[in-house]
Parts: sequence; C-alpha cells; structure tokens
Amino acid sequence: MMEQMDRDLNLVIVGHVDHGKSTVIGRLLVDTNSLPLGRLEQVKETCRRNSKQFEYAFLLDALKDEQAQGITIDTARCFFKTDKRRCMILDAPGHVEFLKNMITGAAKAQAALLVIDANEGIMENSKRHAYMLSLLGIRQVAVLVNKMDLIGYSEARYDAIAAEFRLFLEQIKMPAGHFVPVSALGGDNIARKTGAMPWYGGGTVLELLDAFRSDPPPAEKPFRMYIQDIYKFTDGDDDRRIVAGAVETGTLRAGDRVIFYPSGKTGRVKTLESYNRAEPAAFSAGDAAGFTLDEQIYLKRGGLVAVDGQPQPLVTDKFTGNIFWLGKTPLTKDKPYILRIGTNETPVTVTEILNVMNSSDLSALAKDEVGFNEAAECAFSAERPVAFDTYAGLENLRRFVLVDNYDISGGGLLTESLASAANDDDLQKRVFTREYKWERSSISFERRAEMYNQKAALVLITGPKSEDKKAIAKLLERRLFEKGKYVYYIGMSSILYGLDADISSRKDMDREENTRRFAEVANIMLDAGLILIMSASDLSGRDIRNIRRVVSGEDVYVACISSAGRGEGRGLPEADLLLDGGRADSAVSEIEALLKRRGVIFGL
Ligand code: GTP
Ligand code: MG
Repeated sequence: MMEQMDRDLNLVIVGHVDHGKSTVIGRLLVDTNSLPLGRLEQVKETCRRNSKQFEYAFLLDALKDEQAQGITIDTARCFFKTDKRRCMILDAPGHVEFLKNMITGAAKAQAALLVIDANEGIMENSKRHAYMLSLLGIRQVAVLVNKMDLIGYSEARYDAIAAEFRLFLEQIKMPAGHFVPVSALGGDNIARKTGAMPWYGGGTVLELLDAFRSDPPPAEKPFRMYIQDIYKFTDGDDDRRIVAGAVETGTLRAGDRVIFYPSGKTGRVKTLESYNRAEPAAFSAGDAAGFTLDEQIYLKRGGLVAVDGQPQPLVTDKFTGNIFWLGKTPLTKDKPYILRIGTNETPVTVTEILNVMNSSDLSALAKDEVGFNEAAECAFSAERPVAFDTYAGLENLRRFVLVDNYDISGGGLLTESLASAANDDDLQKRVFTREYKWERSSISFERRAEMYNQKAALVLITGPKSEDKKAIAKLLERRLFEKGKYVYYIGMSSILYGLDADISSRKDMDREENTRRFAEVANIMLDAGLILIMSASDLSGRDIRNIRRVVSGEDVYVACISSAGRGEGRGLPEADLLLDGGRADSAVSEIEALLKRRGVIFGL
C-alpha cells in the first residue's frame, strides 16, 4: 500500500479553451484501460442513439456522474494507471474559477500537461498557464502539441511551435520540459506510437509521465501540519483536546515533541487519534490526523505543527513572494488583504510591488499595482509572524492565496524572509526559547477561563501624549472589577522604575528592550488568567507587533484614543478600535463591547 502511494503522481492539465485537454484525458483513460468495463461502448452507444458525434470528453462527464455518487471522490479528478504508477489528473476548464482553485492548492499538482492546438497555435492562455505553473512551483511540465492530424502531421510546423514555446519557458525560467506532437483524437503518441509521425524520436505521453519524479516520498520530509480545528473530548471530566488537521508532509508518532508556529509553543504528543481506526502507529502525509498533548496549551486553527529536532520553518512578519493576480480590482500597496497558507490566515499589507508584468507576453509594466492576469514580485508586511518553508519539495508550505474582501484574488509562492532588523530575530529567538523552557502549571488555561468567567487578555490603550489614556484604562479596570472580573491595570512607570531600573536610568534607554520586558510581564499575568490593562503614549505599529509576538498574538486588543477624530485613518492600522478621547465613559463602553464580541468576557 505504502509503496503504491509513494508512486502516485498528481497531475494537472492546462491550456487554452478547446485545445483538447479533456480529449487527452479521455484518451489516456481509454488507452490505459482505466475505464470501468464497457463504459466506452456505453458512451459511444448513447452518442449513436442521439446522433451525436462521440467525444472523448464525454467519458469524463460519464465518470463524473458516477463518482459524484460516492462521497469522497473529487469529481474533477480522474485516475489512470501507467506501467509504473497511478496518476491522478485534474481536468481544467480554462476559466478563472478553475485557476483560482488551482492556486488554492486544491490540485497539489507535482507535474503538469500543457496542451497547445497545433492548428490554432500558441495562444495567450497557453503562455499564461505556463507562467502560472511556474509561479506555483510546478517544475515538471510536458507540452503536448495536439491536433497534429489537422496540420497533416507536419514536422516543420511542430518544430516552429515547439521552438517558440521553448523560448517562452526559458524566459520564465521554467525547465525546458518535454515536447510531444500528439493527436488526442487519433491516439498518436499518447499511449503508443502509431505510424503517423515517424520523424518524432521522443517518447509517448505515458512514457514521459513515468519519467516524472513523484518527489521524494513525503513521509521522509520534515513533519508539517496546519491545525484545522481543536476538538474537545466529550467524555465526562476528560478535558483533553484533540488537535486535528491534514498532514502535509512527514510523519508523526506518539512521544514526538511538537512545536507550534508562529507562537513557538511546544508540547509532547500523548496519543494519536483517528475517527475511523484504532490508535494508529503513525500519521503521514495525506492523513487526516488528530493528536492529544500531555499538557494543555492554548492553540488555534491555522497554527503550523512541526516536530522538534527536524528542520524548522521560517517565521517572519516581513517576506517576499511572487504573485499571480486574478482579482476584480488591482492589487495595491497598503490595502489590507488576508494571506492564507494551509488553514492559516494572517492580515497583511503589500509594502512593495516590483516587476509587474503581463503574464502572457511578459512585457514589463511600469506601474505600482497589479491588474487582472498580471504577475509581480511583492514584499509583504504581516500583522503577526507567518510560518512557511522554502525547502524544495515543500511547495505546499509556501503556496499562498491572497484574499481581498472574501474573494480569492491571487496566489503564488512565498520566496524568502526579508532579513528584518537584528532585533526582530533576537526577539523571535527569545520568545521561542522561553516557550520551549516554559514551566506549565497543572491548571489548564481553559479551567482558569471557566473558573474566572473570562479569557485572559491584554488591553493596550494608546494614543498621543495629550490624551488621558490612564483615565480610560483605570475606568475600564474599575468597571470590569465591579462585574467580578479578575483584572489589573498596570502603568508603564510601574515597570520603568522597577524591573527596568537598570535601563531606564540610561540616556539612550533601549525602547525595544523596555517594550519586550513589559510584554514579558504581560505574558506572565495572562498565563495567570488575568485581564491586564495597560496604557502607554504613542505606541508605534512596530511596538504593537512586538508586543503581540511576545504575548500570544490574538489575545492583545489595542484601542487608540485620538480626539482628532476616528475613522480618519489617523490612528494605527494595528489598532482594533479607534476611539474619541472626549468621553472616557463611552470609550470604556466600546472597549467592553469589543471584549464581549471577542469572547474575552462572558457570563455577565
Ligand atoms: P475546454 O474544456 O472547453 O477548455 O476544451 P478542451 O481543451 O478540454 O478541449 P476538448 O478536449 O473538449 O476538445 C475540443 C475539441 O477539439 C473537440 O471537439 C475535440 O474533439 C477536438 N479535438 C481534440 N483533440 C483533437 C485532435 O487531436 N484532433 C482533432 N482533429 N480534434 C481534436
Ligand atoms: Mg475540457
């Protein structure tokens, strides 16, 4: 079973409308005897009865109907067997929705067939799709020059098309790939050579497929899984949680020490859990996995799980990527988007747009936005660190999608972490070390939350010096306290002249270190289950991002007080609330409402 799995090849077929994609698949199914017995005759018979010309594409429709009755089969996917392996191929109508699906990684293709109609020649989409494949990290491509029968099997015309397309592939730095002249209709050079093109010395499509690598067996790669959900055991006082997700690569066993990204929290796998089988010995790539930990830690959907001791992912909030844009409105700088990798979603902005180009003729476009069907290199700044991999063979771990207002609008591959200021990396390392060494209490965060009727959180109140943030912070503390919440207000100076005494006396006071220490104090108090309220003047976006890194990200709520008016975008993009400082009372009510909405305070 395992051996069989490893040899499977995931394929996608692309190309311009009507160039023969479905016909190629139909042919492959027929010529490899991969159709259910009698199916071919049945479809041909139906065509005869309806006096319709038989099309190989109908075979796919016939299969779809059948497969749609099963629940687990992806209806757009067909399977066929070559001598060496099983192939899964995804048929690709050339429209935008499909391309979006492909970008989301649903296809997870390792290789692609690109079909070009020899009679019509290379079209915009032929190039565009090739470019898209390259941006998605698909490096193995076979180009099928189809419908050779329509051009009298002309070697010269085939050579001309192949030469022109080779040049294009070179331009987009795609490995030259393989070219095959075929007639899908006649079955020439698909599964066997016929006498039609004696001048062609290369292999058939099937032979090429067998020459493709199906990648090193995924089980041998570092373990990676995105958390899909956290499930609660329903048995009486069993308060364990199951961390669930689909394994992208690698293997997981009970006893493994796992690290969760981007937080750096760690835990040891206690049991492996599966819905439909007794406790499995291991989970590997492709499995729907679940596991429990020997300690309770606070985890969320979207976290990336890695195994300690193996190569670890990059974790950074500044990075670059190549993107292909299919959005209704152009991609622009400084607009909020959601970056999705696996189940992880992180708000980002684009800070730089470089090398915008038309994806079919590769002409450079001198502009700083990316329009429909254009591609570009972008630099991103994320609200919190994002974990991804740049190792070869882990493309799924860096294939991303950009969501613009709920609409999947573009995608591509992340390329590298932008060497952030040395400080950032120090901070990251310190947080990871801290999480690694953290002495966890025997009381889980959930038990505390139940007992206290609140979720631990940090509320940061900031704004210009002129605003009375302290008044708001203290009023909020009192209100929550009177409602029975475990809440504490801490002022900056309480830390500055105590814990920070060694640095606060210096002229060149290290602001970053000051912020870090403050955040570490907050982290301890949040671990104790408290709602901590803090006020500080003029926190910058960077300060807030750093605080979020030290404290577990989403439990930090930022209110920015500014009498200059809300909604003018004068406040911080990092802020959850922009408030008018005029009336402390109403500012406090708004913060309270936010905390309720986010589930920090409940049971009132
Ligand atoms: P879309 O799914 O609409 O993008 O088209 P497609 O790329 O799947 O093309 P399809 O396989 O449906 O083929 C389009 C037309 O071209 C059909 O009428 C096929 O019969 C015809 N066709 C496909 N391959 C060949 C070939 O090798 N020779 C000839 N003469 N016709 C072909
Ligand atoms: Mg088709």
